[in-house]
Amino acid sequence: MGLLDNKIALITGGTSGIGLATAHRFVAEGAHVFITGRRQSELDIAVVALGSNVTGIRGDVSNLDELDRVFAAITSRGQGLDVLFVNAGGGSFSTLEELTPEGFDATFGVNVRGTVFTVQKALPLLKDGASVIVTGSTAASKGSPAFGVYAATKAALRSFTRTWAAELAGRNIRVNTIAPGPTNTPGLSGLAPDPSQAQGLLDMLTGNVPLGRLAHPDEIANVVLFLASEQASFITGTELFADGGEVQL
Ligand SMILES: NC(=O)c1ccc[n+]([C@@H]2O[C@H](COP(=O)([O-])OP(=O)(O)OC[C@H]3O[C@@H](n4cnc5c(N)ncnc54)[C@H](OP(=O)(O)O)[C@@H]3O)[C@@H](O)[C@H]2O)c1
Repeated sequence: MGLLDNKIALITGGTSGIGLATAHRFVAEGAHVFITGRRQSELDIAVVALGSNVTGIRGDVSNLDELDRVFAAITSRGQGLDVLFVNAGGGSFSTLEELTPEGFDATFGVNVRGTVFTVQKALPLLKDGASVIVTGSTAASKGSPAFGVYAATKAALRSFTRTWAAELAGRNIRVNTIAPGPTNTPGLSGLAPDPSQAQGLLDMLTGNVPLGRLAHPDEIANVVLFLASEQASFITGTELFADGGEVQL
């Protein structure tokens, strides 16, 4: 018996890092998983790696037409959604002084607008009793130089999670935020301005973690699985940190 036997899940940004690790975990626990990402090549690789019970759908969450295409594909399967992991996102470093309107709009477009309309468009597919998990970040609870726009997008998502939990409680749909600390993914290394600086960035981030290391994506996936499953049946509207103590101690 798996924790997600016969469940249908959508994971946005499911081709890499935290999303891909979660897709592996969900499939191992008996779910059929839809994964999305913008790059067809990465989608194809992820689908092969997952092996079975997976459907890849290419789509950019910041493009409403592409979101419609993603949900049309899921609708055509005719089984609704039990779990929605709204995870696609990312950011870049920019101080207030360096910030451009284009950079601001791009980060808010993917992280906030993309998440909001993913959840909105999923509503007709979500079954009563479904679980929605939104990827936040410890960044939302900190003031880190040059990370203000990213942090603000994740703070916005934390707020939306409370509202959606209230709006959907009548359908017994639980909505929660997973707030990972620094997690060893391509996305995290990609924050470095060039690859030669990636290790220095990872070392600096590790220094902020009381447990003294980065998270492995599987450690975040375990928490997402918990929130997705009936094990978390009385948890809604919360923000669950998996951060090695980064913003707790
Ligand atoms: N790693 C960390 O330390 C950390 C900590 C806290 C929170 N987070 C959050 O965790 C989530 C996953 O990050 P990660 O570290 O696993 O990054 P990652 O390895 O770069 O994976 C990001 C995934 O999202 C997809 N994606 C990005 N933009 C997209 C868009 N506009 N539309 C659709 N898919 C998109 C990527 O595929 P394509 O590029 O092909 O689209 C990829 O599948 C993000 O929301 C991030 O902010 C990460």
